[in-house]
This record gives sequence, C-alpha cells and structure tokens, in this order.
Amino acid sequence: MEQSNLSFPKDFLWGTATAAHQVEGNNTNNNWHIWEQTPGKIISNHTAGLACDWWNGRWKEDLTHAAEDGQNAHRFSIEWSRIEPKPGKWDEAAIQAYREMLIGMRSLGLKPMLTLHHFTDPIWIYEKGGWENDETADFFARFVEKVVPAFKDLVDYWITINEPTVYVFSGYMAGEFPPGKNDPKAAFQVMRNMLCGHARAYRIIHAAQPHAMVGFAKNFRAMIPARAWFPPDHWVNDFSFRNFNNSFADTLMSGRLKFAFWKDFIPEAIGTQDYIGVNYYTRDHVRFNALAAKNLFQERFFDPRAELSENGFIATEPVGFAEAIRWAQRYYVPIYITENGVEDSQDIMRPHYLITHLFEMWKAMQGGADVRGYMHWSQVDNFEWERGWTQRFGLWGLNPLTQERIRRSSVDIYRDVCMQNAISTENILQCAPELQSELD
Ligand code: FCB
Repeated sequence: MEQSNLSFPKDFLWGTATAAHQVEGNNTNNNWHIWEQTPGKIISNHTAGLACDWWNGRWKEDLTHAAEDGQNAHRFSIEWSRIEPKPGKWDEAAIQAYREMLIGMRSLGLKPMLTLHHFTDPIWIYEKGGWENDETADFFARFVEKVVPAFKDLVDYWITINEPTVYVFSGYMAGEFPPGKNDPKAAFQVMRNMLCGHARAYRIIHAAQPHAMVGFAKNFRAMIPARAWFPPDHWVNDFSFRNFNNSFADTLMSGRLKFAFWKDFIPEAIGTQDYIGVNYYTRDHVRFNALAAKNLFQERFFDPRAELSENGFIATEPVGFAEAIRWAQRYYVPIYITENGVEDSQDIMRPHYLITHLFEMWKAMQGGADVRGYMHWSQVDNFEWERGWTQRFGLWGLNPLTQERIRRSSVDIYRDVCMQNAISTENILQCAPELQSELD
C-alpha cells in the first residue's frame, strides 16, 4: 500500500545534545575531576581526559557534521568551573570561548539550547558542601547573573539544571556520583536548594530576556509494577514514581515539594517553566522486596523480552517514551525532548531504537502532545560519567586516543529524518518493519 511519510510541524527542532564535562576535555576544576582521580569511582578508573577535545576547538568538526546532516539545533552546556574558577572571579576568556561556540552554532544554522548546570560543580562549591549548602542557590544565581547578559544575544532556549533527580539520587542515595553519599535527608536538602536555584535562574533570565524559553531537563524513568496483582509492587512503584519523576516538576506547579519522607513549600518555584525538557531512555519493572530496606524496599529489572543495549544499561521500551510524553502533558507547557538515545558501539540496535522512539513521539503528537523538538543523545561518543568510556551513545563514534571520528550508519537515518522533517516509510521498512502493521 502506498503510504506517505510521517511528518512533523514546520520549525520543529532536530538536534543532538552534549554536556560540557563529557565533551570539552581538561576540565580539572570541578567535582567530577576529583571523583575521577579517586580510585574505584569510575569503571576501570577511566577519566574524561581530553574527552572530545571541544575546548581546543573540535566542536567545529562535530557541529559541522551535525549541520551537514540536517540538524537545526544543538543542546550543550557551559562549565561553571571554567567561567568562575574561584568565588566571584570571572574568566572572561572562557566566556569569550563560549561566545565563539555560540556564534559558530548559529552560523551553522543550529539554534543553541544552553544548559547552565549539567552535573558538575566547581571545586570551590564542592568544598563548601555543594548543593547541601543553602548558599549554593545564591552562588548559582550570581553565576547566572553573570552569564545571561554575556550570552543572551545568542541564545533563546535555556535549561537551568539537567536532571536534578538524577543528580540527587546518584550523588546522595546510590553514591555513584560525587559526593558518593547514601543520605536521604541530604538528598531532600539538595532537591530543595536546586529548586531554589532553578527558580532564581528562571527569573534572572526572564528579567534580561523577556521572550526567553526557560525550563529544566527531566530524566523521566518509565516504571510499572512488576506484578499487577500484588499491591506491595504498586506501593513501591508509586512511591518511587512520585519521588523520581514527579517531585521536582510538581513543585514548579504547586510550590509544594514532597520528597521521600519530607515536605516543604517553595512558593518562588511556582510557574517557573516555559516548557518541560524530557530526557527518556528506558523503563523499569518495579517489585517489592522486604529485604531491600536500603533501597526503599524496591527492586528493579527490565522486561526479559526487551532488547538490551550493549552493556545491558538500557532496554528498548518505546512505549515508555509514549508514557514520558503523556506524563509531561500534565504540566500544560510545550515539550522538548532534550535527550533520548542508546549505548551501542556497533550501531546494531540504534537504528531500531531511534525509529521506534521517533514513531512514538509522532503518534503522541497526532494525539495532541505539543512536542516542539527532539535532541538525540549524543552527536559523538563522549565520557559517560561513572561508566567512563564503556558506553558509546554517539551517532558518530570516537576513538578518544586519536580523536578520530567514525561515522555510524545511524547518522544517515537521523539525517533523513532531519532533512525531510519526517520519518520516511523507507526508514520504517528498513529499521522497524514491525511498525508497518500499525501504519496500515
Ligand atoms: C543522562 C545524562 C547525560 C548522559 C546520558 C546518557 O542521564 O543527562 O549526560 O550521560 O544520560
């Protein structure tokens, strides 16, 4: 049967996402540098090292690829520790380097989406207690006051904080990110302060640039109770869903923060998102386990039938992406997909992952979801936090020793989508033929 392509609205943003510490290289003045120097914290004691060498200018090569391959936007982050290496001391050359990057993006036809905080903190912030310290929201506000006037002629899309709940869970519950704690009360305190920091940043940006689009990037983890018939599975699933998925974003609507066993009222957070950024990767099945007190009595696993990524980190669950978008609609603001992708050095499952997820996004939009852009994680392989160089999320591969870029075949598939502003029937047939029946 003759079928037409699945098209997206005019002006839809198609891009990739990166983060400063993961691509720049030689970021030695932040908490992650300390973490990487501590044996046993990163798989195989890998370090970011030169990363993708963006700080020496290699962003030009990667972003030229992005533009040549039809993208019209790029999400990236600026490194606080470069711009403010010591409290209140500004590195104007670093600001200038980011301005050049922004000018470069724009001249390549890429609309910049700038993240102000993507997991890393300057060492001086870390030494003052990081985001557990109430003063950090003030320090962050001072940083935002400095950078917004410096970049506002070049940027309209701002992300205040990337994945605050991942920062909180990984750093203060699971102990995988610095400072490596397991302290739920400290986690609550960090959530609180990040909400205050976000709200301050939102207002600072809007005061300087009234038309700005300001939001944060939420890592949405899809979850379902493992045994539908067993109420305790529902209890732990709901508790986990509320804490991980709802806590931060709900506070931006109601001002009421509920996290773990604590509550607070943060009125200044109300109404501080012009859009919601959604990062989506996978979905968990959640089961009650009476012996897992440390893990709030829950155990998570992937659907045994799901296709798993190279290191078993991600299960391909496009239905969870549909859930993520439906969930985001509850905030009544436009939605930007700020991350989505899979680790796959051989590029075996990425084409299927990409097309099935884009298909879910397209369907959600047909159903009325106001999705305005999609940023694939990532343009090129980069330093993957506590998992070091073991996970390869790039459309392009990278050899970190030689800095050689390797074009993966997914580049061509994503290129078709970006260039046509549509998912073509050829791409569906080639990458996800099982979707044909849904189309018929
Ligand atoms: C997200 C992070 C991003 C990257 C991807 C794979 O949680 O925001 O920096 O590590 O996961």
